[in-house]
Amino acid sequence: MRLQDIINTAKILVSSNKGLLAMDESNPTCNKRFAKLGISQTEEARRSYRELIVTTPGLGDCISGAILYDETIRQQKKDGTPFVKVIADAGIIPGIKVDIGAKDMAGHPGEKITEGLDGLRDRLKGYFQMGARFAKWRAVIDIGDNIPSRGCIEANAHALARYAALCQEAGLVPVVEPEVLMDGDHSLEICSEVTEKVLRTVFNQLYMQRVILEGTILKPNMVLPGLDCPKQESVDKVADATVKCLLRSVPASVPGIAFLSGGQYSELASARLNSMNVRFRSRLPWALAFSFARAIQQPALEIWHGEEKNVARAQQALHHRAMCNRAARGGEYNEEMEKILK
Ligand code: 13P
Repeated sequence: MRLQDIINTAKILVSSNKGLLAMDESNPTCNKRFAKLGISQTEEARRSYRELIVTTPGLGDCISGAILYDETIRQQKKDGTPFVKVIADAGIIPGIKVDIGAKDMAGHPGEKITEGLDGLRDRLKGYFQMGARFAKWRAVIDIGDNIPSRGCIEANAHALARYAALCQEAGLVPVVEPEVLMDGDHSLEICSEVTEKVLRTVFNQLYMQRVILEGTILKPNMVLPGLDCPKQESVDKVADATVKCLLRSVPASVPGIAFLSGGQYSELASARLNSMNVRFRSRLPWALAFSFARAIQQPALEIWHGEEKNVARAQQALHHRAMCNRAARGGEYNEEMEKILK
């Protein structure tokens, strides 16, 4: 029965053209983003900001699941209502980030390994009791001189698979996130090669750890040239390369692929997702959705700026990005939509 629940949850997370909202920045990451805008880096500021997000009117029309951070899942609105209840009342499934970060990998200069497996079984039990029904674990793969190494890819894929198996045991859908970073001057082709290698390794490991693919969501990067690559590619070329890579490496039993945004401009992330759905949707075995943090939140965060008087406008901006991405899922996003808020 539990397995059927997990499979149903995974399906719901990628149904009705909705997607995931990642609002699971760790305290250091959240503080860094606040500091850049001169917002105070306190627990209360983080709470207020997350209250702004979860109380955004109409958010549940576009967002199926919200990924929270350990601090956030325990927080409440100013009036005392737990965030988990606010989210669930909006028709959004609560999720939780459960890795404890990417750390330097021993013997592998310039590479990272994600930690958090120790004690994970008990933590997952606790999060399920708090209302979470899915989880997230992010592995980070950097492209550079002689990296990524086989050792780094294998170790991260193994950890992702161990995490995913524990999630399913605990009744949670694992969102499996192997992120190939955009940093560097590598070409689209190199990103494609590395992403394919990483995804094939991840699915091998998921198989070895007996993870039920019907009850998982994949959260990959799009296939993109490095940020410093002199040759940047068109929206359609990125869409083609991304779908080609995924078709080669992601089994058809996975219900949905929800991309991370990885630092792409918000509008570009929507346009690229849209192009994939316009050009390929009818021919794909899985849903192509989104699980963005920055590409949904950034405009709202900049408008909010830590000030109560900006909350309503920031919520409008957040809702707007969520709407644009829902449209992109259906292949119905266009530049005209962006003018509505300008
Ligand atoms: P970005 O969309 O900002 O890349 O964040 C997604 C995420 O959840 C990273 O783990």
